[in-house]
Amino acid sequence: MMAQTLLITGATGLVGKALVKQCLAQGDTVHYLTTRKSKIATQKNYKGFYWNPQDNAIDLACFEGVEVIFNLAGSSIAQRWSKVAKTSILSSRTQALALLHSSIETHKFPITQIISASAIGIYPDSKTRYYDEKFQGTDASFLRSVVKSWEGSLKPFQTLGVKTTALRIGIVLDMHEGALPKIMAPIKHYLGAALGVGDQWQSWIHINDLVRLFMFVLESKLEGVYNAVAPNPVQQIELTKLIAKQLQRPLVLPNVPEFALRLMLGEMRAIALESQRVCASKIQNAGFKFDFLELEPALEDLMA
Ligand SMILES: NC(=O)c1ccc[n+]([C@@H]2O[C@H](COP(=O)([O-])OP(=O)(O)OC[C@H]3O[C@@H](n4cnc5c(N)ncnc54)[C@H](OP(=O)(O)O)[C@@H]3O)[C@@H](O)[C@H]2O)c1
Repeated sequence: MMAQTLLITGATGLVGKALVKQCLAQGDTVHYLTTRKSKIATQKNYKGFYWNPQDNAIDLACFEGVEVIFNLAGSSIAQRWSKVAKTSILSSRTQALALLHSSIETHKFPITQIISASAIGIYPDSKTRYYDEKFQGTDASFLRSVVKSWEGSLKPFQTLGVKTTALRIGIVLDMHEGALPKIMAPIKHYLGAALGVGDQWQSWIHINDLVRLFMFVLESKLEGVYNAVAPNPVQQIELTKLIAKQLQRPLVLPNVPEFALRLMLGEMRAIALESQRVCASKIQNAGFKFDFLELEPALEDLMA
């Protein structure tokens, strides 16, 4: 594929950093939008631009030479869900997309596609369902409403003739950031235990596969909604056991009961306790080949 200039939002985060690395390695130029002025770098192929979706502020120079946008921006859901945090979790996502949209519309920037992060949190908590992208049901939970609005904010791009793609990302496994180091820490200190009953499904993806999946969608110009999870989700107890095995630590404690998680995490315990068994067939049928199909080799690779 010819080298191109890509605009990335949320480029300073876990997924963003890995995606930037891949884009630069294959010779692309990266423009990125950041809300932190301290994070603005200007190198030949890697240029930062300031924005603040809350204030409708954006440096329009970021669009120069850009046809495709990777949208990853959003304030972290791994914080206590106070009223203020909830507002920020939702509005950081919807306002970011609204600002990109109004900028493209007003200035007629020739953007052809926006490939956006979404999340498997769009699927209701269920121990029995096996979710593919056609599933339409929902419930009144905070996570569901956030992800629905987030994906809904992509729709207006279509009337501008911009192709939209939403990648419903599962739990991203990375050694340095995100869920894995948080799950590993107590296990390392002989304090590991499954969360809740432990039978909740966790649909995960290795960070390298997620980056490859974003690039695959770009190269194949795939449109629509795709689950971005490995084909073999596991139950929470299995995840905990496999991490303990890799770390060569015993799991001696009983499961952490739900009431303790409620006390520790409040409403945000949903992240640990919800069950979403999510299907990867649609992206596989589009031709994507996962390097990490099963959890054990994925963990082996990450922890090597
Ligand atoms: N990691 C996962 O397991 C996972 C799972 C499912 C979905 N996702 C979604 O995938 C996306 C990327 O995930 P990630 O793990 O890389 O997230 P992350 O590490 O938290 O990074 C997200 C980035 O969003 C930007 N951001 C934060 N608050 C913002 C705000 N108020 N307005 C605009 N931008 C803001 C930040 O960039 P600046 O500080 O440079 O502005 C930050 O680096 C997120 O939207 C996340 O919800 C992640």
